Amino acid sequence: MKYFLDSAKIDEIRYAYQNWAIDGLTTNPRHIQMSGKPFLTVVDELASEFAGVKGFPISLEINPHLDDAKEMAAEGKKLAAKSANFVIKIPCTEAGLIAAKELAAEGIKTNVTLVFSASQAIQAARSGAAFVSPFVGWKENSGEETEAYIADIASIYLTYGFKTEIIVAALRNGAQIAKAAKAGAHIVTCGFDVFRSSFYHPFTDYGLDVFRKAWDNTVV
Ligand code: E4P
Repeated sequence: MKYFLDSAKIDEIRYAYQNWAIDGLTTNPRHIQMSGKPFLTVVDELASEFAGVKGFPISLEINPHLDDAKEMAAEGKKLAAKSANFVIKIPCTEAGLIAAKELAAEGIKTNVTLVFSASQAIQAARSGAAFVSPFVGWKENSGEETEAYIADIASIYLTYGFKTEIIVAALRNGAQIAKAAKAGAHIVTCGFDVFRSSFYHPFTDYGLDVFRKAWDNTVV
């Protein structure tokens, strides 16, 4: 399973790429806002940062105010022209799915986002999306079940031979990463702190403490 970083902050993106071997990047308007930079500045920054890295998908979300398929596709084409790594992130609405189909027909990769059900994920795949982003954290916060819904999407894609890769998104902890893997996700996308905390366990620290004391009381 691949790891994508969910961020628009260049420092943490660089760190995660160099140290954690992340396989791609996802962004959204909230991440762009948190970077403190204008949208097009971030776009240019990401295009140049990964210019020499072939096959490193970077999802960029189109203006969320757009609700006309033609306008959505036109904005997607403009963004896609800036880097071969760019993947156009489009909301899972009827207009968004029509735009995704148009972009796919032109060979532009899309990531259909804001997906909260298996039926949405089916239409994303039928529209030719390269990626689909079912969210977990938001559903869990509202008390909805999430593990079976990811497993359902994975099993439906397998049954019908859809090539769309499942990016399980909005994960909040390591347990959710493991559940996504178990459910058959191709990719998880997480914020910097979620990935970092998933590398730790309190018993690892406790064990290190035990071993360090033993080491100090041993004649080497
Ligand atoms: C996924 O692609 C989204 O960018 C992301 O996971 C959205 O959710 P969050 O910002 O609440 O984590």
